Amino acid sequence: MAGDRPLLASRNSSEISNDRVAEEDALLTGRPTKRSSNMKRSWAFWREIGVFVWAIVATAAVIVLAVFYQKAQDSKHTSPKPPSGKRNLIFMVSDGMGPTSLSLTRSFMQFQNGAPWSEQLVIDQHLIGQSRTRSSSSLITDSAAGATAFSCAQKSYNGAISVTPDHEPCGTVLEAAKKAGYMTGLVVTTRITDATPACFASHVHQRGEEDRIAEQMVGDYPLGRVVDLMFGGGRCHFLPNSAEHSCRGDNKDVVELAKNNSFNYIDNRKAFDDLKGGSALEFPMLGLFAETDIPYEIDRRNETDKYPALHEMAEVALKALSEATRDSDKGFFLMVEGSRIDHAGHHNDPAAQVHEVLAYDKAMTSVLDFLKNDPTEGIMVSTSDHETGGLATAPQLHVTYPEYVWFPGALTNATHSAERLAAEYMNYFSSNPSDAAKKTFVQNAIETGLGITDYSDDEVSNIANDPASALYRYADMISRRSQSGWSTHGHSAADVNIYSSDPEAALSLVGNHENTEVGEFLRNYLEVDVKAVTRELKKKDKELKMLDVTGKEVGWMGKLPEEGERLDGQTHIASYGGDFKKRGVVHGEDCGCGH
Ligand SMILES: *[C@@H]1O[C@H](CO)[C@@H](O)[C@H](O)[C@H]1NC(C)=O
Ligand SMILES: *[C@@H]1O[C@H](CO)[C@@H](O)[C@H](O)[C@H]1NC(C)=O
Ligand SMILES: *[C@@H]1O[C@H](CO)[C@@H](O)[C@H](O)[C@H]1NC(C)=O
Ligand SMILES: [Zn+2]
Repeated sequence: MAGDRPLLASRNSSEISNDRVAEEDALLTGRPTKRSSNMKRSWAFWREIGVFVWAIVATAAVIVLAVFYQKAQDSKHTSPKPPSGKRNLIFMVSDGMGPTSLSLTRSFMQFQNGAPWSEQLVIDQHLIGQSRTRSSSSLITDSAAGATAFSCAQKSYNGAISVTPDHEPCGTVLEAAKKAGYMTGLVVTTRITDATPACFASHVHQRGEEDRIAEQMVGDYPLGRVVDLMFGGGRCHFLPNSAEHSCRGDNKDVVELAKNNSFNYIDNRKAFDDLKGGSALEFPMLGLFAETDIPYEIDRRNETDKYPALHEMAEVALKALSEATRDSDKGFFLMVEGSRIDHAGHHNDPAAQVHEVLAYDKAMTSVLDFLKNDPTEGIMVSTSDHETGGLATAPQLHVTYPEYVWFPGALTNATHSAERLAAEYMNYFSSNPSDAAKKTFVQNAIETGLGITDYSDDEVSNIANDPASALYRYADMISRRSQSGWSTHGHSAADVNIYSSDPEAALSLVGNHENTEVGEFLRNYLEVDVKAVTRELKKKDKELKMLDVTGKEVGWMGKLPEEGERLDGQTHIASYGGDFKKRGVVHGEDCGCGH
């Protein structure tokens, strides 16, 4: 094997898995100091197999002991007493963040800060448990069923926005909180009409009905207005389709509808700054800062004049909600979502993901600081709806077994997401440049956007010739160089972590739990009557009809899933509509990676 080739040489360098790393520093930098080219199955190989088998046996023993221990503990985890007086609940959702996203981000943070291996993220210091995430229709949930488990404390089918498997609406913790006199807020970085926020303040049979979700969230549904504050993206679902940047199927002006329901509407960074950190915010507030998603943090951090950061939106919301409830005997319920950790997982883009997770960590810091300083009693609970990408910080790229290495250092020089670079190339490509100009454009994107200088000619021309594959190819280039492995472009069934600012008050979430138990905790903590909301919704469900785009009368929760895509049984396997993972193979080039 060519021992002199740089470690991060190119995607077809089968040497990668045989590089030996002699110094701990090299673990993080991707700069090995000693190599060997031993391809034979040596004694060391078989010894490793032995150790592996032993590890499995040992792990099994630990699990058995842990189960006994947990059973013993469970008897002590009886329902915690909510505080007796006024209280605030901040529920944080890290969409698509599995445990490995934390390993990825923690090592990246340590490398970037030159911090020791013991340095933790803020979130690490608040781990209390784990959540099992399956939905009623699949072992692998989507965000709609995942958030319905939080909002309604019930399992439902993938795609369900706070409706049950029998297609009845289920009351949400936010709706019940509003009725009980709490103030309410939703802060996200994706479309405010996307599944997670939608599940708290709307009810539709299929998550794709974002136009209808937009209407419901500003109060055009049986309960009237229930959200006091919304920050996020998704403006295009609020603009009539006669407007320039609309993505609505009809000509309804949902911004006007919101204003008719007394919302104060803002749509840009300057107006956000004019809220003066929240002290000048007037309720109810609708702030939509992007047509669709707010850009990934890795891109946004250079566009701070256009888009607020997640922690900035959270801080403004916290201050405004706290001030508005100062003289009330009820506090507030605020949901804050790191929405696009999930998207970075779908894109298999580790550089985008570490910055999304760090942004979430920063938002959590803001929430913890708020709780420390605010006189009202309160709690932060954080979890994910599911894992995305099947992330492993250790891919097997070759027929030989991989070394135990992955390289966070390879993510540090990336200045942009694969999504952004692909969009820019798509845009450039449509101007019909020459072949040479295309390649130069892509080369430049790889160097300045991904921080990769050891690219191969094939890598460049594959992207230059096929802009539709650019997103996955850019992401794949940086994944390979950092040795980040992904098993899917969709979600996975992995258990996800639960965090809290107060493990004692959140005692019922300590240990391993069903995602619906997180939902139960939320309503119990606030002591609100969600069942009464469900009864009210069911009663009104029968009365209210609406017109669809064609003028046909439909129920207010929109269309039922078609027969065949009905997601109400045990047999339906919901799909994620993603692309095939091993796209490179389909395109025929030999990546030398033993796929
Ligand atoms: C808002 O209210 C005005 C005045 O009542 C009404 O004319 C208009 O149709 C309403 N807009 C929407 C979108 O409902
Ligand atoms: C950041 O934005 C400025 C101005 O828009 C631009 O000149 C600069 O190249 C950008 N930096 C990166 C790393 O993209
Ligand atoms: C990142 O860029 C710097 C400056 O160009 C360079 O010295 C460093 O080696 C690069 N890091 C990686 C991991 O490529
Ligand atoms: Zn997802």
